[in-house]
Parts: sequence; structure tokens; C-alpha cells
Amino acid sequence: MITVIGSINMDIVVETAVFPKQGETVFGQGFHTVPGGKGANQAVAVARLGGDVHMVGAVGNDAFGHELRTILQKETIQDQFVMTSETATGIANITLFEQDNRIIVVPGANNDVTEKEIDAAKALIEKSDLVIMQLEIPQQTVEYALNVCKQLGTKVLLNPAPAENFKAEWMDRVAYFTPNETECADIFKEDVEAALEQFPNQLIVTLGADGARYFDGQQHVFVKGFKTTPVDTTGAGDTFNGAFAYAMTIGLTLKKAVEFANIAASLSVEQFGAQGGMPEKEAVEQRLGGLNA
Ligand code: RIB
Repeated sequence: MITVIGSINMDIVVETAVFPKQGETVFGQGFHTVPGGKGANQAVAVARLGGDVHMVGAVGNDAFGHELRTILQKETIQDQFVMTSETATGIANITLFEQDNRIIVVPGANNDVTEKEIDAAKALIEKSDLVIMQLEIPQQTVEYALNVCKQLGTKVLLNPAPAENFKAEWMDRVAYFTPNETECADIFKEDVEAALEQFPNQLIVTLGADGARYFDGQQHVFVKGFKTTPVDTTGAGDTFNGAFAYAMTIGLTLKKAVEFANIAASLSVEQFGAQGGMPEKEAVEQRLGGLNA
């Protein structure tokens, strides 16, 4: 069983062919509200694959909050530890431009996930095979949750996004750490090879469409991504994290888990929305089988 402690957002997405300059107004081509938040996205990625997943987080007592809770339930994510706060539900303002995205997150209720919510979920954390966290809830809460996981002997996968909230001293409380290349450079302030060599089999750096890499203690391992035509890359990293976590909890080796996660991420970008393209297990296995045939 996997527990995700993290953010739940409504994504407010605008598609545009022209990115406005400061002070300029342009016409966009599309507008959508779709479920998101790195925490919820990673939980959905696990659930679609068939994993047993619980979420710890918060939504507001508003229309977005009610809708997002219903979506979590439909995705078979256990939401008993998703509290309803009097603060507005978190949102992400996403601009899709030239097949890539720019995101501004307004955390709202996500900032109300505190030590109290972690304490309430202690029994769940203790029973979990793995806890997944990101950095869209308060830094203090993440730190507290890391300490609780350590005390209870539960492994943690930390996806350090956004990277500015990461503290270097957390590395000894984390089993798997999954920054992308930019986050890795921001956090370790050294080149990726040197960072990887400090944290063998623990630091996995995602490379977007190129896949992911890690250091196995002896050599650098590159696991190539599956090339596809992306419709929307939002949530690809979240799919990677959810799928990687799921794969590790069903006993795959690190290399196989990264392969599995790469394939899941490649499927996720083929449809619109952070959660829209997240695959079921059969789809991942089918593409993996094709690759290994
Ligand atoms: O990783 C993508 C997610 O980042 C979006 O769903 C958005 O809500 C932000 O949290």
C-alpha cells in the first residue's frame, strides 16, 4: 500500500499559440479546468496502475474542492485523510505554449496540511510500503512527515518539486529522490554525474523524453525514454513518480522500475491534462512488451 502526502489542485489551463509580452493581450485557443496537483496526480498514477493508494492532503470547502474529492474517490483513492479546510482549494494556472507548459501554483488549502494531519495519519503511514511526497505543501510539514516516516520505518520517495522548498539535510531520510535535471542542478549545485555518484541507487534524475538516469555504485545507468508525439506534457513527471513507486512496491528491480515508469510517462503525454493520459497497467505492459520483444 502506498500513501501520498501532498497537494491537490484544480488546473486552470489556457492554450495559446502566442505567449504575451509584459503588458500585452493576446487571444488563446482553448481553456479547460482539469484535476491536478503533484500529490493528487501521483496518487492517480498509482491507482490507475491498480495500486492501493491513500492520500493525505486538503481541499477547500468550495466547488473545486468538492469536485476534486469526487474525482479522487472515482479513481479509487482513499480520501479519509484529505481534510476540508476553510481556505480556498489550491489552483495551478497553466499556460500551454509550443507543446510545453508554464505553471503558477497558488497553494490555498494545501498550505493547511500541517503536522496535525500527519499525526492523524500515523497508523496509515506505519502500514504503508512507501510514502510519496512532493514539495507543494508547507516545508515544515514535509520535514515533520519525513521524521515520522523515519521513526516508523516507512520508506519515502521524495519528488523535490518545486525544488526551492528542499533542504539538503533531508537526503538521509529519503529512500528514492527524483528531481529532474533542472531541480538536480538547483539542489546540488554541482554537475549531475557528481550528484549521482554521491547517492547511488537513491538519486534518480528524470530527463524528460530522454528517460532517466542513476548511478548504481559502479556505473552510470541510463534508461532511455520511449519516443512519442506529445499532446500535453503536464503531469509526465508525476506519472513517472507514481509508476516508479508502484513498480518498486511490487518488487521490480530499480532498473525495471525506471523502465516501467518511463513507459507510463510516455503514455501519459499522449492525452490532454495532467491526469488525462495516465495509463492502466495493461497499457504499460503492452508497450514494454513491444520494446523488449
Ligand atoms: O506536475 C504538474 C502539476 O503541477 C499540475 O497538475 C499543477 O497542479 C502543479 O501542481
